[in-house]
Amino acid sequence: MPTNNEPYVLHTWQQRQTDWNAPTVAGGAGAWFWDESGQRYLDLSSQAQCNHLGHQHPDLVAAIQRQAGELCFIHNAWGARPRAELAERIVAKSGLAGGKVFFTTSGAESTEHAIKMARWITGRRKVIGRYRSYHGATSNAITLSGDNRNWGVVAAPDVVHALPPYCYRCPFGQSYPTCKLRCAQHLAELIEWEGPETIAALFVEPVVGTNGLFFGPGDYWRELRAICDRYGILLVADEVMTGFGRTGEWFGWQHWPEAAPDMMLLAKGLTAAHLPLGAVALNQRCAAFFDDHSLPTGLTYAGHPLCCAAGVAAMEVYERDGLVQRSRELGQWLLTRLQEMAARHPVIGEVRGLGLFAALELVADRETRQPLAPWPQMPPSLKKLAAEAQRRGVAPGTRGNLLIISPPLNILREDLEWGLSVLDELLGGEW
Ligand SMILES: Cc1ncc(COP(=O)(O)O)c(C=O)c1O
Repeated sequence: MPTNNEPYVLHTWQQRQTDWNAPTVAGGAGAWFWDESGQRYLDLSSQAQCNHLGHQHPDLVAAIQRQAGELCFIHNAWGARPRAELAERIVAKSGLAGGKVFFTTSGAESTEHAIKMARWITGRRKVIGRYRSYHGATSNAITLSGDNRNWGVVAAPDVVHALPPYCYRCPFGQSYPTCKLRCAQHLAELIEWEGPETIAALFVEPVVGTNGLFFGPGDYWRELRAICDRYGILLVADEVMTGFGRTGEWFGWQHWPEAAPDMMLLAKGLTAAHLPLGAVALNQRCAAFFDDHSLPTGLTYAGHPLCCAAGVAAMEVYERDGLVQRSRELGQWLLTRLQEMAARHPVIGEVRGLGLFAALELVADRETRQPLAPWPQMPPSLKKLAAEAQRRGVAPGTRGNLLIISPPLNILREDLEWGLSVLDELLGGEW
């Protein structure tokens, strides 16, 4: 194993810095990357679900180089062609006709700005998030996240949490469809108790990210839209992880297309991670509010031309190569393959997913659904599996009891098959 080769770096999300011990990555191409010793790894997580086009996509590298040759940076006070073009493309694909785009530099900053905008637009203070959600690491965003990562750092007032539609472990002890969407009723009750006239917005990941990869039963999303309309609350879709084809639609909420959100939060796949960029896409009504109201916020690098050029190129490649549809189709194949694995390996409690965004929830007992380890701890046996997979050149995602498969949308099918065969063999080992 490599020694700690970055002794001066504080690494993100570590239990203990002294545990950090990773190879130095020297390069990559497509779904593969390699370290300085030459060992190759198949990227089955897309690096925290953002390298939608794999590594070093030639079209993106060329677009960045071209833009760098022309104009690296110009402030928002001036026009920039890549920014204008990217915003136009996002609005066209978002289904938010007549909408506009506010650029940030990350997912967390998109959450921060959407919270502020929702408060200005509605004149209300409170925002609702859900348990088992993640919206970013900055103060408001981490407070909004219903996640252990906010323990001890909750800093923002006027944030309320609702219970999520996590059917495998329904917080209401029900099952679909006899539950009659109890989770949505609960949300309406929560709003009544908090006072509808105090609530600005509801923030929801259309498919929950690494807190479980669930998306609720049947028409849950449509029900959320109806509840928000009833109480005059804005519905915000956090598409940071689910956007840009990850789930088999351009944006996750488009699986329930008649229930469009008022705002969408974007980052990650927006540039396929080739440069950092985030955005809030607003529908016409929300965008029009700022026609005659002040927008007293912004970031120096908002809509940075280099990053926007990467975004334009990424959206072009998604479209040209049919990658949204590919995610849907290859994702179907992936789910079937994972279900076959579940039939062989009792440690797999449930297979969940949409598009190329899938997870295995691992259990100690399939009958009782007893988790392998209490959430959010990672079971030592899963740690061991991930380490052995890495040794064999396969890099899946993990969190808690979840083994997450979210490869680049352009991964070769034979590579994905090979990566899954390695995981299949390891899942058959000792638990
Ligand atoms: C749904 C969701 N929202 C927001 C964020 C925060 O994005 P960033 O890390 O770019 O700030 C993430 C990051 O994983 C995410 O998954």
